[in-house]
Amino acid sequence: MIRIQTNLIWPGCAQGKYLVKAKGCILAVLRWGNAKAPLDDWDPFAYVPVDPAGNGMFSFSGMRGIPREASHVWARCYAADFGSFEDVSAGIPEKYLDAAGEQGAVHHFSILTDLHLVSRPWKIKQALRAVESDCVFLLGDSTNDGLPEQFAGFRACIEETVPEKNIFPVTGNHDVLRASWGGDTDGCGNYAGFQRYLLAKAEENGYSISYDPDGRAYAVHIDDLDVIGLQCVTTGRKFLFPEERQIDWLEERLSSVPASWHVILCHAPLLAHNPNRNTGAPYLNRNRRIQEIVDQNGRVIFLSGHTHVSPNVLTGNGEYDEKRQNIYLDCGSVVATDTSGEEGIMSPDWKDGCKTELIITKNTVEICMSSIESGIRFPRGYYRFSTVPKRG
Ligand SMILES: [Fe+2]
Repeated sequence: MIRIQTNLIWPGCAQGKYLVKAKGCILAVLRWGNAKAPLDDWDPFAYVPVDPAGNGMFSFSGMRGIPREASHVWARCYAADFGSFEDVSAGIPEKYLDAAGEQGAVHHFSILTDLHLVSRPWKIKQALRAVESDCVFLLGDSTNDGLPEQFAGFRACIEETVPEKNIFPVTGNHDVLRASWGGDTDGCGNYAGFQRYLLAKAEENGYSISYDPDGRAYAVHIDDLDVIGLQCVTTGRKFLFPEERQIDWLEERLSSVPASWHVILCHAPLLAHNPNRNTGAPYLNRNRRIQEIVDQNGRVIFLSGHTHVSPNVLTGNGEYDEKRQNIYLDCGSVVATDTSGEEGIMSPDWKDGCKTELIITKNTVEICMSSIESGIRFPRGYYRFSTVPKRG
């Protein structure tokens, strides 16, 4: 008899063990589903080898969420010759199905990062068309070489596809191969012009934007959220904050501006939250100080890109520091490079381009990565953090 069993740990969280008993089978493909069938708009979350005794086991780490619409785990178990398969399912015990129900106002943001526009804009337009929210965060490396024609090309893509959206950008190392702040004339001659163009549009739509003393980093209050765009690179693709004053300004901003969450946009992740688990040198030359500031403050959602990490990496690219109530998310990129660090077999859909949707309610933060090409969702890029402190 073929069956699947789950050993979960926390409500709403996919972390735990998934045990397959399938004598005579060689592989089990695991998916989320309901009582009737797997959810067809979600990729499988594991491909599990089954040993000759018929045992297979998948250990899900990394704090992923159980999708809201899932009530069952499904396993498609393939016979040893792959000539046939059998589908089995197991209900997820009620107590693991959901953390707190959502309450309060919903904030929805779409995130795109590492688009690397060279000369072919179709991928950029596809990504812009795929975003679900009216408010978009662009986390850097929008262009590949920071050339005037690339920024102008990006602007044309926006005007053709999503002229009505509010887009909040930060600079990436690829955006500043050449000077990014001086010598800009009108429009999008360099990153500075690109940012001015986007923020002017947001201001026209009623957003009030304030700047650091050098006029590069900025902050915008969106209802009860404070969104802060850091500029963490300088000309020549170096991860040097152009001026230390930007970090002083960040510290002051976090401690003096009340907000339910401070959302920091920064092209590269902090070292301790780099999903590639690079324990070497940090990307950010003010890494330690920024980490201290974020730790001291709490209620920070730190959004980054740059690593082109696969959402499938087993350790995960989203983290919740429950003690300080800080969330770190390194988002999957629009342009994939194969530094994925994936273990075993996984669906390659993320390599067609990844977008991220961020949904914040009073008591949850939900993160969902999906394909910009097909819309299919990546279970290993899905998190739903309950942000209400646990009792006791
Ligand atoms: Fe980058």
